[in-house]
Amino acid sequence: MKQIITLFFLTAFSVSSAQSIKSPDGNLVLTFKLTSDGIPAYKLGYKNYEVVKESRLGLKLKDMYANTGIDKLSPSAENVPSLDKGFVTSKVDSSIVDEIWHPVWGEVSSIRNNYRELAVTLLQPTQNNRQMIIRFRLFNDGLGFRYEFPMQDNLNYFTVADELTQFSLTEDHIAFWIPGDYDTNEYYYTKSTLSKVDATYATKVNEIFSKTIIGKNFVQSPLMMKTSEKLYINIFEAALVDYPAMHLEIDQSNFILTSHLVPDAVGNKAYMQTPCKTPWRTVIVSDKAADILASKTILNLNEPSKIDDTSWIKPMKYVGIWWEMHVGTASWNYANVNNVCLKSTDWKSLKPNGIHGATTERTKRYIDFAAKHGFDGVLVEGWNVGWEDWFGKWKEEVFDFVTPYPDFDVEEISNYAASKNVKMIMHHETSSSVTNYERRMDEAYDFMKKYGYPAVKTGYVARIIPRGEFHDGQWMVQHYVRVAERLAKNKLMLNAHEAVRPTGLHRTYPNWLACESARGNEFNAWSVGNPPEHETILPFTRLMGGPMDYTPGIFQIKMNYYNPDKKEQVHTTLAKQLALYVTLYSPLQMAADIPENYEKHLDAFQFIKDVAVDWDDTKYIEAEPGDFITVARKTKGKNEWFIGAITDENGRTAEIPLNFLDNNKNYTATIYADAKDAHWEKNPMSYEIINKSVTSKDVLKIILAPGGGCAIRIW
Ligand code: NOJ
Ligand code: CA
Repeated sequence: MKQIITLFFLTAFSVSSAQSIKSPDGNLVLTFKLTSDGIPAYKLGYKNYEVVKESRLGLKLKDMYANTGIDKLSPSAENVPSLDKGFVTSKVDSSIVDEIWHPVWGEVSSIRNNYRELAVTLLQPTQNNRQMIIRFRLFNDGLGFRYEFPMQDNLNYFTVADELTQFSLTEDHIAFWIPGDYDTNEYYYTKSTLSKVDATYATKVNEIFSKTIIGKNFVQSPLMMKTSEKLYINIFEAALVDYPAMHLEIDQSNFILTSHLVPDAVGNKAYMQTPCKTPWRTVIVSDKAADILASKTILNLNEPSKIDDTSWIKPMKYVGIWWEMHVGTASWNYANVNNVCLKSTDWKSLKPNGIHGATTERTKRYIDFAAKHGFDGVLVEGWNVGWEDWFGKWKEEVFDFVTPYPDFDVEEISNYAASKNVKMIMHHETSSSVTNYERRMDEAYDFMKKYGYPAVKTGYVARIIPRGEFHDGQWMVQHYVRVAERLAKNKLMLNAHEAVRPTGLHRTYPNWLACESARGNEFNAWSVGNPPEHETILPFTRLMGGPMDYTPGIFQIKMNYYNPDKKEQVHTTLAKQLALYVTLYSPLQMAADIPENYEKHLDAFQFIKDVAVDWDDTKYIEAEPGDFITVARKTKGKNEWFIGAITDENGRTAEIPLNFLDNNKNYTATIYADAKDAHWEKNPMSYEIINKSVTSKDVLKIILAPGGGCAIRIW
C-alpha cells in the first residue's frame, strides 16, 4: 500500500530563503535555496559529514537553429535566456512516501520505497514567469533530484545547450573512474584522486572500436568515490529515457563535478517539449561500502512496470555459440570475402571458410548440451548473412535480421530446440546502423516469434548511423527504450550490448533483462583484458543501474590453449569465475565457455548448473571497491543460498558469518574454492570442492587466492 503524507505546502509569500528536509531515518539532510541572483542551489549532509557543498542547479538553453546554418540570425546559446538564474520561489511542497513493491525479478523479492520529498516550484519573472520545478527525493541512503517543466506558453519546445548541475565535493576524494566517452563504456577502471584523473590515456586504447573521448578531466557516471573520512559516495542518474547520458567534468582544483551531457550530431544536448522532465540525478552515500551495493534508490526512482502481464518474462541461464568466435577458433562470417551486399550477394554461391560457428549441426550440439545440463537457452551469433564486412565501413545496410546463412537451417533448429524444451536466443548485431535496424525491427521480431525465440541480444558495435550521433546521446537513448517497448509489445525479452549504461529502467520494462554496457569478460579473450580488481569495481559503478551480461564462467583461463602465440588470459582463477555468478547480479547469466571445457571440469560446472538467477533476498556481507566483495543470495522460492566471494590481485581470507540461515537447521555447504596453490596468473585453474554441514552459528573462513574467489551453495 502506498502511503503519502503531505508535510507542508508553502506559497510564495511564506517561502523562506532556504528549505531543508531530512531522510526518513534522519541521517541525510538536503537543503535547497536560491542565491541572491536567484540561482537554484542545494547541499547534502550525511550524519556529521558534508557530502555535497552548496552547488548550483539549472540548465543553459540554446536556440535550436543556432550554429546549423539554417538561420544565421538565430541567437547563440549565450543570448538565449536560460533556466539558470533570476528565479523566485512560488511554491514548496513536501511529503513522505512509504510503500513496498515487488519486482518481477531481482536481487530481493520486495523493495521498500521510503523517502521524503521536496518539490520547489520556481518562476522566472523576467521571462514571463517561466516555470521549472526541482523535485528532490531523500532516501535513507541517498538523494535523487530532477528538473520538471510543466506545459506552459512561455516554455514550449526548447533546446538544452548544457546542464549546469553541480556536485561540489569537500576535498580531493579517491575515485574509481573510466574516461568520459560519448560512445563507449568498455574501459577498465582507474583508481586515483579527482585531481589526478587524466582520461587522455584513452586515446591509446585501441581495443575499443568506437571511441569519442571528451577530454582530460571528464569521467563517466556512475562515479564511485571514497573520502579520507571513509565515506562512500556514488554519483549517477536514474530513469534515463528521453535525454542524453550524463558524464561529469571535474574541476580538479576545487573538486566540483559538473554535469556534461552527450551531444547530438549538431552539437546540441537535448530537445525538450513541455510537459517534460529530466532523468534523476543521484547521490548515494554511506559509511559502509556494502550499503552502496544494497541501495535500491535508483530502482525506486524509476516508474513502475509498464507491462501488465509479466508472466512471460523469465530469468534465464544460457550457453551459446559465442566464445569460440572471441578466442578465434570459429568465425561469425560464413565466407572470407571482404565485400558483400545485402541486396545482391548470392550467399549460396560463396565459398564457406570452414570455420563458420553457427551451423545447424553445431547448434544442435549446443541444444543437446543445454538440455542435458538444464540450461534454459542457447544463443547463436553469426547465424545471419552480412558478417563478411560488418563493421568499420559506416555501412547502412549490413544485416537484415531475417536471412540465415546457407548452413543454418532455422526451421530445423527451432523444431529441434522445441523438442528438447530449450529456448533459442536471437542475436541482432546492428553494427550500429540503427536506422537500418529501426526499419527492419518489426519484421525481425515477427521472425523471432515465428521461430520461437523469446529473447534477443542486440549489439551496437562501431559508429552510429544516423551519422554523427553517439551511442549515449538523446536519439540513441530513445532508440534503446523504443526497442525495449517494441519487444514488450511482442512479449520478447532484451539483452542490449554496447547500449547506454542502464539507469534502473528494468523496473519499468522488466523484459529488459540485462545490458552489457561495460567491459565484459570478452576483453580477456583478445585484449590486455580486465585486471583482477575489475569485477570488484563493476558492482559499485556499472551495476548501480542494472544487471550486466558479463558472461562469466570461463574455465580455460589461458588463451594459449587455443593458439600457442596467444598471450591473453582471463585475469581470475577458475573459482572466481564461479563466484561471479553471485557477485555480478543478473537475471540472465551465460555459461560462456565452450562445452568441451565444461566437460573437462564437470565437478566445478555443477555450480553453474545449480546457481539461481532470481532471488528472494540478498545480503552484502563485506565489500570494498577495488578490493573485495562477499555476497549471499537466497534462491527465489527455496530454502537455498548461494555465496560469492571475490578479491582483487591480493589474496585474502573471506570471513562469512552464516547468521542469515534459519536457526536450528542443518544445512549442507558445497564450497568451490581456490586450491592452496591457486593464483590468477601462475596457476589459475587449481580449485577444490569441499562438502560440509553448517548451521547459522558458523562463520566460514575461506582463503581466496590472488585474483581468486569462492562460490558456495548452501541447502
Ligand atoms: C560485441 C558484443 O559485446 C559481443 O558479445 C558480440 O559477440 C560481438 N559484439 C559481436 O556482435
Ligand atoms: Ca561489447
